[in-house]
Amino acid sequence: MKEKFNKFYKKTLEERRQILKELNMLNEKISLDEEIGDTMIENYVLNMEIPLGLAMNFSINGKEYIIPMAIEEPSVVAAASNGAKTLGNIETSMDRKYLIGQVVLENVEDPDAAIKILEENKNSLMDLAEEHSQSMIKRGGGPKEITFKKFDQGFVCIYISVDTCDSMGANTINTILEALAPLAEDLTNSSALLRILSNHAIESVVVAETKTPVQNLDKDIEKARQVARRIEAATKYANIDPYRAVTHNKGVMNGVDAVVLATGNDFRAVEAGVHAYTVRDGQYRSLTSWTFDEENDLLLGRIEIPMAVATLGGTISINPIAKWSLQVLSNPDAKELAKIIASVGLVQNFSALRALVTDGIQKGHMSLHAKTLAKQIGVKEEEMDEFMRSLLKADKVNLSLAKGILAKMREED
Ligand code: MEV
Repeated sequence: MKEKFNKFYKKTLEERRQILKELNMLNEKISLDEEIGDTMIENYVLNMEIPLGLAMNFSINGKEYIIPMAIEEPSVVAAASNGAKTLGNIETSMDRKYLIGQVVLENVEDPDAAIKILEENKNSLMDLAEEHSQSMIKRGGGPKEITFKKFDQGFVCIYISVDTCDSMGANTINTILEALAPLAEDLTNSSALLRILSNHAIESVVVAETKTPVQNLDKDIEKARQVARRIEAATKYANIDPYRAVTHNKGVMNGVDAVVLATGNDFRAVEAGVHAYTVRDGQYRSLTSWTFDEENDLLLGRIEIPMAVATLGGTISINPIAKWSLQVLSNPDAKELAKIIASVGLVQNFSALRALVTDGIQKGHMSLHAKTLAKQIGVKEEEMDEFMRSLLKADKVNLSLAKGILAKMREED
């Protein structure tokens, strides 16, 4: 199967679709049915379409993946495939995927006394939570822990952590919280202001790491070391200047969001959770770290990122493209999907940094654009090298220039 995807980026759209057909991966065009769209949101009129491409060369925990990415930005899929090839295998871990819900009590007269009585009744609160999450418990998940915290101005919060298995579990959590609130109100003689899950997903954190021989970065070992050093410095800088950290992390999210979207997950929840996590010590920092291990000539990469995603339920199960994307990933469970997404984020960041600390990103963008134009105007394989050389010499790349160059080349032939 792997050979079939060799030089996938060089194939025409028809050839790519033919390969997927031969592998029984995509037999007909799939799209979100209008009738389904009409049941999903109010005042539905159209589907917003975003291109979905496949990133190649990913190896995560020793398993090979083809990664579906939904994104409108031209260079992201190419950069992911390229970066994955350079970095090699990515090792990941995720201890647990719990979601946190909160009941916020207001007008609590004596917060310390309220917390004491809530602590004394923790078992009753847990029993109630379990009673309202029977199907999640049957699937091996359910409520795990309840904690309490007081805040200024008479607020007390009840936090509950729930293992939501492969689903997002928003409904389960909100049902649990609505069930807990009346008992909490009675016990503390206060009123529940909010009963809602939190997108601060600190109990769904993935760590993904790479160890890449620096010679993978350039044939010339000195140049390769220089690139590794500069990538390390770029991460250091992102950790001290939030202006840079935001853009650095935007590069990570190019990869993350593209897979989150392709698999039908809630990208707003992921975005909110990720940025809150990076600022947890009070300063907005880089999500990744890159270190040049000079002794062993290795580039060490690491990302630590909350990733509360699902593979079941919600819109995932009714959106055919999300289902298809999950099939392309060999139907992972939610934790495996979270690990895949974290890995794509790490790789995407690597590719952006590598471009930034060497040629700058415009060169790659230009050559990608030139390749797209070449395909569009029918440049033949044997004409490609000369065509690309001529086009990339110009200070801007556009369709009429590309057509002019091709016409001239053919005239001279
Ligand atoms: C562009 O979409 C993403 C980058 O700006 C990320 C970065 O600067 O690290 C290239």
